[in-house]
Amino acid sequence: MASKLIALSLSAASLALQTPLLVQNEPAELFDVKVPVVLGVMSKCPDAIMCETVFDRVVSTVSGRMDFSLSYVARLNESEPGFGVTCMHGPEECSGNIQQLCVAKYETLAKWWEFVQCHNYQGREKIGKPDVALSCAKAAGIDWESSGIAGCVGSDTSGRTEEGIQLLKQSLKDTQRLKVEKSCTVVINGYKVCVRDNYTWKECEAGHAPKDFIRQINEEYRRLNSDSSPFDDAQE
Ligand SMILES: *[C@@H]1O[C@H](CO)[C@@H](O)[C@H](O)[C@H]1NC(C)=O
Ligand SMILES: *[C@@H]1O[C@H](CO)[C@@H](O)[C@H](O)[C@H]1NC(C)=O
Repeated sequence: MASKLIALSLSAASLALQTPLLVQNEPAELFDVKVPVVLGVMSKCPDAIMCETVFDRVVSTVSGRMDFSLSYVARLNESEPGFGVTCMHGPEECSGNIQQLCVAKYETLAKWWEFVQCHNYQGREKIGKPDVALSCAKAAGIDWESSGIAGCVGSDTSGRTEEGIQLLKQSLKDTQRLKVEKSCTVVINGYKVCVRDNYTWKECEAGHAPKDFIRQINEEYRRLNSDSSPFDDAQE
């Protein structure tokens, strides 16, 4: 194993001057397990918006080490017209959730996150409205029509489409599986590490500043990637 790698490195190094960097990065990437990081949220919830604001710096620092997503808090309710789901801040919140889910499905992490931040920046009363969805898409450089998002949210952007409702219901299942009930709940590699509720941080033993989440994600990343690495002493 080791000698094969050295041979590979030598031949790669002889190809171009920049290759030492390439040679160093390649083995690490082969065994790169990203840390699942989930925020349990409701799109119009002030605590969720606070969480997402704190996470803006987390995303810009360690996005390469995590699989980041939002998972929505709401209730399945068959007697609810439109979505079959009751969102705490009303049907417009269900629309906001679905708009964010559709952008997440069809866009890059960077553009999706910019869309979510733009949503929040407009003020929570406006989240879910059609004009805000369209202007935030424009601000994030999203091609609404050709990306597939327009079909996902529907022509009125309400999210009352088969695909949109399906995404929301799947998200509620994910939220349940994580045993998340409060918006906002921070889940790092399956552990609930912090809750922001009723304008207060709760149960955040390892802190709730960006640096605290960055540190915890880095710790989990090292843990996830040390056991599977064939480059440790035991296997050399
Ligand atoms: C379910 O939806 C109906 C119709 O909107 C509503 O009256 C009821 O309160 C909802 N139930 C729950 C548990 O949210
Ligand atoms: C929310 O916080 C306020 C102020 O600290 C408190 O008076 C209220 O009881 C809390 N509500 C809930 C539902 O915890």
